[in-house]
Amino acid sequence: MNQYKKALVTGGAGFIGSHLAKKLLAQGMQVTVLDDLSMGKEENIPDGAVFIRGDIRFEDDMMRALDGVDIVFHEAARVSIRSSLKEFYDDADTNFMGTLNLLKCCADSGIKKIVFASSMAVYADSRTPDPIAENYTPEPIAPYGIAKLAAEKYCLQLAQQAGIDCIVLRYFNTYGKGQTFTPYVGVITIFIRKLLQNEQPMIYGDGEQKRDFVHVDDIVSANVLAMQSSVSHGIYNVGTSKATSVNEIADILCKKINPDIKPYHVEQHSGELRYSIAGIDHISNELGYKPSFEIIERIDEVIDYYRD
Ligand SMILES: NC(=O)c1ccc[n+]([C@@H]2O[C@H](COP(=O)([O-])OP(=O)(O)OC[C@H]3O[C@@H](n4cnc5c(N)ncnc54)[C@H](O)[C@@H]3O)[C@@H](O)[C@H]2O)c1
Repeated sequence: MNQYKKALVTGGAGFIGSHLAKKLLAQGMQVTVLDDLSMGKEENIPDGAVFIRGDIRFEDDMMRALDGVDIVFHEAARVSIRSSLKEFYDDADTNFMGTLNLLKCCADSGIKKIVFASSMAVYADSRTPDPIAENYTPEPIAPYGIAKLAAEKYCLQLAQQAGIDCIVLRYFNTYGKGQTFTPYVGVITIFIRKLLQNEQPMIYGDGEQKRDFVHVDDIVSANVLAMQSSVSHGIYNVGTSKATSVNEIADILCKKINPDIKPYHVEQHSGELRYSIAGIDHISNELGYKPSFEIIERIDEVIDYYRD
């Protein structure tokens, strides 16, 4: 049962936020989107949502966006582990200070619940491709993960202090239609775009690094479950528990798009995890989450999307 009427989706012009906003509207909720369009696009915002172009770091923008809202889905962020190594100040300014501004504003706004989009980047690198649970070592290897980890701790503590429920969702590698394109985020999107331009996909290192690729619809369903749940505070991984190597992804996509093209390898860069696979027992048991999609079932729709 959903007790909430009006949601704020920060970053709702971006990839995950726009899919989520659409789902909430379809469930009959009112939705406000706050986005500065630094990466997101206005055309991503679903019809029916109220759009406020503004910055999560600015109190005036945030207070305007929170008007009448009872639940916040905080998706807005600078989303690049790799860029955060050089641009650590800007990364922390948005991902950490922007989240603190949200918390400060929420405390006076009658908000009942915050669902915070965190990341698998909060974990230490794993030595094996076995799924890791939420109590796995929180020792991020890049500034992006450090800011997300600090932000989730502030969310949980300050929300509790203000009598607000708070659920932290640690998304693993999310893919799907409409992923925001940058050269650094979303290996599936990057490879598809390269192959459609008849260019070789570039793989860092030996390509045997393994990821948990989760469809954006599953991420959205985890958010909806977090909203509906009576759990007041918690941290949950959102993934599939399945490990797929970057080589396997390249192989699948080359075969599907252009079998004459082969990927090439360049030197491994710092800040990249070797293995990052979600243990999902906690979210399955407590929120009733179950990933619905195998990557092979949903990859064609992403290829078709970029072909169009
Ligand atoms: N995509 C993934 O694989 C993945 C994995 C783990 C966690 N996440 C998290 O999920 C969330 C959504 O990611 P996404 O893939 O949709 O990224 P995205 O870049 O598509 O969306 C982020 C949105 O935030 C907006 N934004 C950035 N800075 C802002 C600011 N200062 N004020 C207002 N808006 C701002 C951007 O314009 C963009 O529309 C992020 O918090 C990200 O860290 C994503």
